Amino acid sequence: MKLLLAVIAALTVSLGAALDPHEHNKVVCYWNSTSFERPGPGKFQIDDLKPAIPFCTHLVYGFAGIDPNSFEAIPLHPNLDTGAGYSFYRIVNQLRQTYPHLKVYLSVGGNADPDYDTHKYLTVTETPEARNKFINSAVRLVTEYDFDGIDLAWEFPETKVKKQRSTFGNVWHNIKKAFGGGKYKDEHEEEHRNGFTNLVRDLKVQLRSRNKALTLTVLPHVNASIYYDARLLAPNIEAVHLMAFDQITPERNPKEADYPAPIYESYNRVPQDNIDASVRYWLEHGTPGGKIVIGIPAFARTWKLTSESQISGVPPIVADGPGAEGPHTANPGVLSYGEVCTRLTESHVGRLRRVSDPSKKYGSYAYQSYNPETSADGIWVGYEDRDTAGNKASYSKAKGLGGVAIWDLSTDDFRGICAGDKFPIVHAAKDKL
Ligand SMILES: *[C@@H]1O[C@H](CO)[C@@H](O)[C@H](O)[C@H]1NC(C)=O
Ligand SMILES: *[C@@H]1O[C@H](CO)[C@@H](O)[C@H](O)[C@H]1NC(C)=O
Repeated sequence: MKLLLAVIAALTVSLGAALDPHEHNKVVCYWNSTSFERPGPGKFQIDDLKPAIPFCTHLVYGFAGIDPNSFEAIPLHPNLDTGAGYSFYRIVNQLRQTYPHLKVYLSVGGNADPDYDTHKYLTVTETPEARNKFINSAVRLVTEYDFDGIDLAWEFPETKVKKQRSTFGNVWHNIKKAFGGGKYKDEHEEEHRNGFTNLVRDLKVQLRSRNKALTLTVLPHVNASIYYDARLLAPNIEAVHLMAFDQITPERNPKEADYPAPIYESYNRVPQDNIDASVRYWLEHGTPGGKIVIGIPAFARTWKLTSESQISGVPPIVADGPGAEGPHTANPGVLSYGEVCTRLTESHVGRLRRVSDPSKKYGSYAYQSYNPETSADGIWVGYEDRDTAGNKASYSKAKGLGGVAIWDLSTDDFRGICAGDKFPIVHAAKDKL
């Protein structure tokens, strides 16, 4: 019996390896296709994808959505996605003619599809009728445009903002009132968890017979232990991409800047808010390591520093909401790596002071303090660079995981303006797998 089990296990392993040529070295590249609409040099065109593809094993198109009335999967930007003018769904799949190794998936959700009023990502899981409408339409969409698979970046409710056990506990009460991250209380968590598990199972049946893949993306602030029944999901998915970043954001945590995407817990932080804790949940609930993929943000999170902020720059540091927007991304509290790296160069006016992470556990940051002479605000930037992206890939490798997932190509230095080579974050991560 033991021998038989061993034989079956060996067979399953070798079968798994045969099915997944990238069992431990997946480089999953997300593409936020609406980055096409950024003005000026931030505009990311479909040709800009090409220099990244040799580093990527998978390309994930972000994002499709759900129609709240019919529960069907739909393009969120029909003009770009499927319209005659651009038809990105079609063009992106034609990349495989030049890059046959590439797998292209269509992702649904990703917080790109507003559902505050409808909670449609929950209701669609609730009945077999709704689930089937979603499944049939999603399968039709990927078949029609010839995607290699579907990724579900399901918009489950976010957790409440957790108080860090840091020195500024008293400000938290007011912040929670003002921002209240995770305000929605789901009264039917278990029903939604089971419904989602069934949706994944039934969707996989349809995809399997068409030789198409199914992956999951766990969005930031979704409590996996509530919504993801890892043990039942594992057999029906090729991979789960853990977006274990944005642990701290300027919207959820406006008064305190801190490492947004640490690998490990650092002193006095929320124990669950790091990559290692997320990974352990999936491993301990039966997910094969090769199916667990670590998310790496190419974008940085920024906070405004004021006269109240400690001048040392050391996190956690008192802040006052999102830092000033960047010239390309034009979004307060966010900078692309391209925007960060230009501000780290010697000659740059308003240069940031860079602090790297020899511990390889927490991440890099850079800052410019408040200026008491001019009263100019400062900025604190928690960012990913070649070293930290490489560290995350090394972590994946050391733990026998499936690789890395970069969010997203448009926020890497895709023009190579800093060091000459394009997509330095994706490249550095790939090199360590
Ligand atoms: C994608 O890019 C658009 C355009 O810059 C931006 O508004 C949006 O927030 C981005 N989406 C995500 C999920 O980052
Ligand atoms: C996630 O949910 C579980 C079960 O309800 C709970 O014990 C845990 O504290 C939650 N984690 C977070 C980070 O909210």
